[in-house]
Amino acid sequence: STAEPLKVMISGAPASGKGTQCEMISQKFGVVHISTGDILRAEVSAGTEIGNKAKEYMNSGRLVPDEIVTAMVTARLSLKDAKEKGWLLDGYPRSSAQAESLEKLSVRPDVYVMLEVPDDILIDRCVGRRLDPLTGKIYHVKNFPPENEEIKERLVTRPDDTEEKVKSRLEIYKNNVESILSTYSDIMFKINGNRPKEVVFTEIDSLLLRLQKDKEEKSKSG
Ligand code: AP5
Repeated sequence: STAEPLKVMISGAPASGKGTQCEMISQKFGVVHISTGDILRAEVSAGTEIGNKAKEYMNSGRLVPDEIVTAMVTARLSLKDAKEKGWLLDGYPRSSAQAESLEKLSVRPDVYVMLEVPDDILIDRCVGRRLDPLTGKIYHVKNFPPENEEIKERLVTRPDDTEEKVKSRLEIYKNNVESILSTYSDIMFKINGNRPKEVVFTEIDSLLLRLQKDKEEKSKSG
């Protein structure tokens, strides 16, 4: 029998580095990166029905209604690639209702990774963040400047990355986080995200390698 694929949830405040770590994790482990923020932004720029409904919430830094996001995530998780390669869920669940929806479907990760970063750092990271619309890569004007002029010229800023909106996103995050933690307290792994991204990744990497090894051993013995 072959080992069950990895199933990972990553959480943390706005700009705690979820997307940055997910890039590295999915590249190394081959799991499918499912970011509700990325999917919603793609729906908005494509002008779909979901996008049009989500737009005003996102631009003002509020959460998009649960039913929209939950339908999106459950559809994505049920696709063949996520079942075969495993998944990395980024930005979901974000409310107790969302966590309950997954529990009802018996969707449970192997680990719940939580990135911890102080508030003042988060604000600086958001305000300095830039996105490459072509590759989806995440940059920062000071921390991770673009590799060349060509990339630099096409970088865009997210409409919800102003200082004022970041503060309200952070507040919404803090109001919701407690109610989700109890669902995953037994598989929670907290990481200090206020270190260079490679250092943060080293810690996640060894955690996931350990989990992968456990799964392989389980599949041999079972
Ligand atoms: P979403 O896209 O999920 O935004 P978020 O949670 O606010 O997280 P961010 O994307 O801002 O940050 P990140 O942690 O990925 O950090 P990053 O790696 O980019 O959601 C956006 C909106 O969509 C929500 O507000 C809501 O409206 C809606 N939405 C999404 N999911 C939803 C849900 N489940 N329910 C309802 N609504 C939902 O890094 C940030 C910056 O820091 C970058 O510039 C990066 O280069 C830099 N950086 C990263 N790591 C480091 C490091 N170690 N050191 C220094 N700099 C670093």
